[in-house]
Amino acid sequence: MLGKVAIVTGAASGIGEACAQAFARAGARVAMFDRDAAALAAAARAIDGALGVVVDVADRESVEAGVRKVCDAFGGVDALVNSAGVESTYTIERMPQQEWDRVLGVNLTGVMLCTQAVVASMSARGGGSIVNIASIAGKRISYHGGAAYTASKAGVLGFTRHAAFEFGIRRIRVNAICPGPTLTPMIRRNATEEEIARTETIIPLGRWVQPSDIASAALFLAGDAAAMCTGTSIDVDGGVLVSNGSSYNDYFARRR
Ligand SMILES: NC(=O)c1ccc[n+]([C@@H]2O[C@H](COP(=O)([O-])OP(=O)(O)OC[C@H]3O[C@@H](n4cnc5c(N)ncnc54)[C@H](O)[C@@H]3O)[C@@H](O)[C@H]2O)c1
Repeated sequence: MLGKVAIVTGAASGIGEACAQAFARAGARVAMFDRDAAALAAAARAIDGALGVVVDVADRESVEAGVRKVCDAFGGVDALVNSAGVESTYTIERMPQQEWDRVLGVNLTGVMLCTQAVVASMSARGGGSIVNIASIAGKRISYHGGAAYTASKAGVLGFTRHAAFEFGIRRIRVNAICPGPTLTPMIRRNATEEEIARTETIIPLGRWVQPSDIASAALFLAGDAAAMCTGTSIDVDGGVLVSNGSSYNDYFARRR
């Protein structure tokens, strides 16, 4: 990523922040988008040369203004990591439409708006790479979130495939990552310490995924090592999807 320009959304916290740090360490010039101005300022201060831009990814004008700022400051965009996301805990029966729209607006429409805003610059530079942070919830269901979250992440996987097809001709690669349980502020807001400890017992690799684990996969997908990968997704879930929901400890307790 040496000398490349990377935009990371949701960069003030968790997975986005870890991606911004990893891309900067790999030599990229990093622009950090987030709607939380105070957290963003703190996160951007910690990365040498990073540009923090307050952006609401669900708002077209805000996204376009943010991308313009990056192009003015750094000359264009080579990579985009869409990590901004929100959770939702309503059951389907009780979900206000406003809540559905809010979650879809950030998690799915946000990915589309950020993609739209960067493709002209990427095309002008001969190509680029977009990495969408989806979720294993997009393939099964969300434990901590509700149906709006699950639907938004399934949508991100569909959008990723379609965008990969449309932009392949311009050498813009579009891929996704499906994180499993990843210990970030999003989880700490929604789970008790006891639930956090219990979750660890269903992860075959024996520990929570860390934001840096997702950042490593994002760096791979964004870089030349993944030059012929597009429209695909990588599960970074410690083996949760293959465990079929059973407690890992129970599995061995019943086997010889
Ligand atoms: N933590 C997990 O277990 C997990 C698992 C699977 C997928 N994910 C996905 O990873 C991504 C990052 O999640 P995280 O766990 O780091 O969460 P987080 O809450 O720690 O960070 C999310 C960041 O996105 C920002 N954000 C929210 N709405 C925004 C908007 N409209 N515009 C700009 N910024 C906005 C928040 O301010 C925050 O800084 C999300 O898309 C989430 O759905 C997380």
